[in-house]
Amino acid sequence: MGLKLAISGKGGVGKSTLAGTVARLFAADGRPVLAIDADPDANLASALGLPVELRPTVHTIAEERRLIEERTGARVKEFGQIFALNPDVSGIAEQYATHYAGVDLLVLGAVQRAGGGCACPESVLLKSLVREIVLRRDEVVILDMEAGIEHLGRGTAMGVDVMVAVVEPGQRSLETAARVRDMAAALGIAHFAVVLNKSTDPAGERAWLADAFGADAVLGVIPYDPRIIAADRAGRALNDAGADDLLALYRDIQHILVTRYERHPAPATSDTRSLP
Ligand SMILES: Nc1ncnc2c1ncn2[C@@H]1O[C@H](COP(=O)(O)OP(=O)(O)O)[C@@H](O)[C@H]1O
Ligand SMILES: [Mg+2]
Repeated sequence: MGLKLAISGKGGVGKSTLAGTVARLFAADGRPVLAIDADPDANLASALGLPVELRPTVHTIAEERRLIEERTGARVKEFGQIFALNPDVSGIAEQYATHYAGVDLLVLGAVQRAGGGCACPESVLLKSLVREIVLRRDEVVILDMEAGIEHLGRGTAMGVDVMVAVVEPGQRSLETAARVRDMAAALGIAHFAVVLNKSTDPAGERAWLADAFGADAVLGVIPYDPRIIAADRAGRALNDAGADDLLALYRDIQHILVTRYERHPAPATSDTRSLP
């Protein structure tokens, strides 16, 4: 139920712009939206247009030492401890989210990865939290992720309806997107799609992208547009920038996401219907 969307791609391609703009569009439609900043290089708050003076009020879960110790029973930054691998994460999203313009924003923060397969308490808590949100919620959940998605975990990945890779015209971001597609498939994410951003030749570049991923995988094409940079510089969401023609392109993408990937509750079975 609901729509669980993960957004990935190379750094700087426009992941947070897409995540934030689409989150605000859902909110404008009156739908509950939980936007999760899962990129250690966190900037979703700014894409959502959260005013600068409110930024200090945003919690970063990985830095909430007391919360982490309370829920996992482990001391942060101490090695060789035994702690709960399945901590209780109830209420965390509600308590630690920042509400702005109809969107609930949750910032996960960076976890220090001590070599391969770190099982430090903060990473265990974040994983459990994301898993609980993705598997239990029936609202719109948007995960703004880095290019590496392997730490999503299989259980969580199965709750993600679609992995969207943002691509800019260029071989390097295409290669990153192809890696994201392969990782998503390996994790068991059902669908993969791409959005072309910063396009200066929409028709030609759409064909180029369709060639790599198939025409159906291309959700939309956003042109390179200085108004997006201007909104960013002003600390404003694109939704508040008065660029209706641009916003319409994001709306088209939102529409495809809903019609193609949203899961709906199973229809009532015959035994709950009254007999004639
Ligand atoms: N279509 C676009 N045209 C011009 N600039 C863009 C476009 N999309 C994003 N940008 C700019 O590119 C930069 C990176 O975008 P951002 O969404 O923060 O990327 P990411 O989250 O992938 O690192 C920002 O300065 C943003 O304003
Ligand atoms: Mg970002």
